[in-house]
Amino acid sequence: MAFVNVKLRDLGTPPSSSSKMVTLEIDGIKVSVPEGTSVLRAASIAGIRIPKLCATDTLKPFGSCRLCIVEIEGKKGYPASCTTFVEEGMKVRTHSERLEKLRRGIMELYISDHPLDCLTCPANGNCELQDMAGFVGLREVRYGFEGKNHLNLPKDDSNPYFTFDTSKCIVCYRCVRACDEIQNTIALTVEGRGFNSLVKPGPSGKFITSECVSCGACVVACPTSALMEKSVIEQGMPDRSVRTTCAFCGVGCSFNAEIKGEKVVRMIPNKEGAANHGHSCVKGRFAWVYVYSKDRVTKPMIRKSINDSWKEVSWEEAINYVASEFRRIQEKYGKYAIGAITSSRCTNEEVYILQKLVRAVFKNNNVDTCARVCHSPTGYGLKAAFGTSAGTNNFDSVLKADVIMVVGANPTEGHPVFGSLLKKRLREGAKLIVIDPRKIELVKIPHIKADYHLQLKPGTNVALLNAMAYTIVSEGLENIEFIEQRCDLEVYKKWREFILRPENSPEIVEEITGVPAELIRGAARLYATGGRSAIYYGLGVTEHTQGTTAVLALANLAMLTGNVGKEGTGVNPLRGQNNVQGSCDMGSFPHELSGYRHVSDPQVRKLFEEAWGVSINPEPGLRIPNMWMLALEGKFKGIYIQGEDVVQSDPDVNRVIQALKSMECVVVHDLFMNETAKYAHVFLPGCSFLEKDGTFTNAERRIQLVKQVIPPICGKQEWEVIMEIAKAMGYPMYYRHASEIMDEIAKLTPTFSGVNYEKLEKLGSIQWPCNEEAPEGTPIMHKDKFVRGKGMFHITAYVPSPERTSQRYPLLLTTGRRLFQYNVGTQTRRTPNIIWYEEDVLEIHPHDAEERGIKDGDYVKLESRKGWIILKAKISDKVAPGVVYTTFHFPEIRTNVVTTEYSDWATNCPEYKVTAVQVTRIYQKPESIGKYVEKEKELASAEV
Ligand code: SF4
Ligand code: SF4
Ligand code: SF4
Ligand code: FES
Repeated sequence: MAFVNVKLRDLGTPPSSSSKMVTLEIDGIKVSVPEGTSVLRAASIAGIRIPKLCATDTLKPFGSCRLCIVEIEGKKGYPASCTTFVEEGMKVRTHSERLEKLRRGIMELYISDHPLDCLTCPANGNCELQDMAGFVGLREVRYGFEGKNHLNLPKDDSNPYFTFDTSKCIVCYRCVRACDEIQNTIALTVEGRGFNSLVKPGPSGKFITSECVSCGACVVACPTSALMEKSVIEQGMPDRSVRTTCAFCGVGCSFNAEIKGEKVVRMIPNKEGAANHGHSCVKGRFAWVYVYSKDRVTKPMIRKSINDSWKEVSWEEAINYVASEFRRIQEKYGKYAIGAITSSRCTNEEVYILQKLVRAVFKNNNVDTCARVCHSPTGYGLKAAFGTSAGTNNFDSVLKADVIMVVGANPTEGHPVFGSLLKKRLREGAKLIVIDPRKIELVKIPHIKADYHLQLKPGTNVALLNAMAYTIVSEGLENIEFIEQRCDLEVYKKWREFILRPENSPEIVEEITGVPAELIRGAARLYATGGRSAIYYGLGVTEHTQGTTAVLALANLAMLTGNVGKEGTGVNPLRGQNNVQGSCDMGSFPHELSGYRHVSDPQVRKLFEEAWGVSINPEPGLRIPNMWMLALEGKFKGIYIQGEDVVQSDPDVNRVIQALKSMECVVVHDLFMNETAKYAHVFLPGCSFLEKDGTFTNAERRIQLVKQVIPPICGKQEWEVIMEIAKAMGYPMYYRHASEIMDEIAKLTPTFSGVNYEKLEKLGSIQWPCNEEAPEGTPIMHKDKFVRGKGMFHITAYVPSPERTSQRYPLLLTTGRRLFQYNVGTQTRRTPNIIWYEEDVLEIHPHDAEERGIKDGDYVKLESRKGWIILKAKISDKVAPGVVYTTFHFPEIRTNVVTTEYSDWATNCPEYKVTAVQVTRIYQKPESIGKYVEKEKELASAEV
């Protein structure tokens, strides 16, 4: 593929959404464009190039450089074409002697204050200033460098990923506008006037100490090398690019991976990406560098016992060893003694082929997914209410929402690109309700303030959502027409009786949640009557003993108010990992084949049996917690763990370790020697997303291609490895490329029947269902009717978590994520992101800290009924009194030692969000604390 710099495919100003067309004449050519289009864009569409510097098609026109001037018949002077909009019959001239002279004069002024080091500049050949100087025909500069200039201004190197060289800045404001309009952080300003104008990141003038979140939008927008990726400065300009999809969170940003030789130099967010529209966050844009980490394990390894040292072996030996061990275990302990865990970090194809290995070769259904521990209640709840285990709307739909309700999610940190879109809509005037025990960023930042923050006690979501529904029904705010037409009326009537019970009233619920009744009523009224209302929720809803009940309660609210089936509404889970949706779709759950069809259904089994040439076990297999339980009982002896660090991510870690230690063959397929691999017998090196082909499905059901950008460092893509294990176990599979696995998925899965790689390449992405009825996919579901037919209300009685505070454990711990780290940190800890967040800390309210004599930065012991850990305290009023908060990005801290074994009643999703704890100050010096932690770890592993 020929390399085309993204900045050069720039139409100058954003598109207009008007449906009214306007026809004008530019340089004698007739052009028809939507009303509201700039003359600059209209000319670009017609293939006529007008020089420009401050304009770019991702930002609103600004009109500062004046390079894009044109002549318009009947108009005086030389208007800037970027800020002049088309009119019917307009006649525009883009090139004349006068225009060219004026443009050369403008360029001359720019160049006279710009270092003339083009040949050694990292942007050489990809600089818009250089390009425009050539385009306007500037041959010489009449002014010398003797006078006042900006050439010796210092460089800011403080950001680990990009530099800011003020001497190369032309003060076009593109960076400032990108931070304001795209990222919505507003970290940059221009200080001074005229000649003295300078771009400044915060009062310190350094990016690292400013509000900047390192999303890179300003770097993409910069037309010169003033803002430049350090990787380009070090390695030179890339020479080709491959389009692929980010492998961090469930937003699913599309990127162009830019390569020089065999090495990836940078990731540029793709303007045509339907989930991100050219935006990115620090992780996808910069933290992909873990791919080249020296810690990568690149050779397969085996060992007989976990007390032995690892031995590097060939792929053939490793694959044969896995196959023979699994067969040996099945012969000795029975066919149900082995299973697998699929990963939501892996591609759809890898997940599909692993569950096929389990069902067709292991001959059981012992396959589960890491989605078990995050969004399994979403799948269960939304399927029960609406008929589909997935979110209802696309991300862009939020731009049509009048009221946005964020529940148990922190989008600006967990799903940053969607967070930016959300901020954009809020800055346009949409109302905001936040339901969260913590003051997340959206509650109050410059230009945004939540209309309601319902800061409830952890574990009381269901009571609060019921009280909102109570308010809506008791005050007659429900959408009767929608309910009558779209929902099961008999069931609704019963639900109505339930919800109007006094225990659901805000006044009673105030006691449970700690949220004043008036706030609950106010938020409910706003949600019901504020226009189009959309719900976005995260793990703060699902990771509870009543996770599924809370999802059902959200669905109740949406149906009750008619806020489903159209733009700006819906019930939308923000999926944590890049492919949570996909891993669930692919048949990773022990009771379901791909497309959420139960294994007990003979029709469904027949379809797969004919395609696979085997018989499929009709009995659902083991869920992850049951695998651990049976392992501890000596009945489950072998497991294949795909890209998942269960020792760090699963609750009640010591129990998981014990279970792994009791097995005879633990196979870990991963990039790094993670915590789980310490208990493995086989380590199979995996591929990063840059080394493989496949697809990911994001939180909006959007399937996107993942393309091999560099060859697999370990020599084999994961799907090839699984295929070879199947063959070594006596069941050959014959895929030549990941696309052939997708063809099989499409053949066997009705919601995917129209999906193939060719179409994905052509359309860029497809939101399932994609079939005969919707050949190009379905952005918004349940439009005219619910997939299940009639929408189903569910009785959602509040049942408190069995985990209670007591005198000994008086505080409630809840957990979450940070922007700069990702999940268990395996990747992001190996990148410069560590600069921003280098350890897990415990947020504690000033009142609780004072009571315990804890100061900011003190080491504290966090103890629950399950265990204890040591970490640093951070005094913060983001949490309410009685609540403490931490993350689980760092294995040293082992946050999940303290979480409990309680889980969701329907899906076994663990209750990570509610743990009763005590916090006490530790007085040892930090060095001895380090040893203390190490010693404790030794003790913990000795215990099991
Ligand atoms: S990197 Fe992002 S947040 Fe930082 S200044 Fe640039 S646009 Fe703003
Ligand atoms: S840093 Fe780049 S984008 Fe920002 S004002 Fe300077 S030249 Fe323009
Ligand atoms: S928002 Fe998510 S998908 Fe997008 S770049 Fe960041 S981590 Fe990647
Ligand atoms: S590009 Fe139009 S004024 Fe700068």
